Amino acid sequence: TGITATRSFDALIAADQRIEPRDEMPDAYRAGLVRQIAQHAHSEIIGMQPEGAWISRAPSLRRKAILLAKVQDEAGHGLYLYAAAETLGVSRDELEGLLLTGRQKYSSIFNYPTLTWADIGVIGWLVDGAAIVNQVPLCRCSYGPYARAMIRICKEESFHQRQGYELLHTLAHGSPAQREMAQDAVDRWWYPSLAMFGPPDGESTHSAQSMKWGVKRFSNDELRQRFVDMCVPQAEVLGLTLPDPDLRWSEERGHHDFTPPDFDELMRVVKGDGPCNAQRMAHRRAAHDNGSWVREAAAAHAAK
Ligand code: ACO
Repeated sequence: TGITATRSFDALIAADQRIEPRDEMPDAYRAGLVRQIAQHAHSEIIGMQPEGAWISRAPSLRRKAILLAKVQDEAGHGLYLYAAAETLGVSRDELEGLLLTGRQKYSSIFNYPTLTWADIGVIGWLVDGAAIVNQVPLCRCSYGPYARAMIRICKEESFHQRQGYELLHTLAHGSPAQREMAQDAVDRWWYPSLAMFGPPDGESTHSAQSMKWGVKRFSNDELRQRFVDMCVPQAEVLGLTLPDPDLRWSEERGHHDFTPPDFDELMRVVKGDGPCNAQRMAHRRAAHDNGSWVREAAAAHAAK
């Protein structure tokens, strides 16, 4: 007679063990994960646009090959994440529908324009840097399929961050015009990158429950602080300035003090009123419509 070791959701969470698709779980845990994983997947897919816009304008074959690989990685991340969400009983079709009709969100950061080549470097350094700080703890998320997907994603994000840093380092040590372009890009992306971590803890609707369930391991403000502390020495090596006159080391706190991002702006951008929201969604809808023949052909082939 075998021992059936079915442990309850609460026991698994208390023991810091993984919840797997066939385990019982509260509806709110399932729904919260679908929300977060889908938003994350949509972010990867929409996130291909700001950088994709520079593939044809990359300044050398080497830079173009790197950027192509990076944008392809993002498509891959989106797909692993949709697959992780599917283990919770939703379909990728359904989730795509929710994105296309504006009922699910994607990260605020991808609603800002990439105006110059230096923006490609800054996206790698700051945006992918923020993504890593936020996502490394998700490798220990209580939901097994999400945690496992994050391991590979974080390795690839780390390559993305390094390539952006190297690109920016090259510009920052180039001609005066290149240096100026690099600084201008840092000035425009710093606060939107800080806002990626979400609202301050006091206004974060999901944090408390999400931390109890081991989905989130650190709060929005904790991760934002970790990111600032990481960026300061990196900016020094680049020889670039972070656009915050109040940024300074606090001996007392053992962290940098800094000016928080404008959270009203974050909420406006999340609600659809950012510089590129309409363009990003129009582009995604057009790509979806243009791809309908592929879906139809695949379905016809599968039916044979
Ligand atoms: N952009 C868009 N929406 C945001 C952002 C943001 N930067 N920050 C918070 N929100 C939304 C939340 O989704 C939530 O909205 P909802 O209730 O309608 O879903 C609301 O603002 C309140 O925020 P929180 O309660 O703090 O939400 P949550 O606990 O989910 O924390 C966070 C937000 C940190 C983004 C979390 O969902 C997370 O870690 N997600 C996984 C990582 C991710 O999605 N990264 C995407 C960008 S990185 C990249 O793709 C390169």
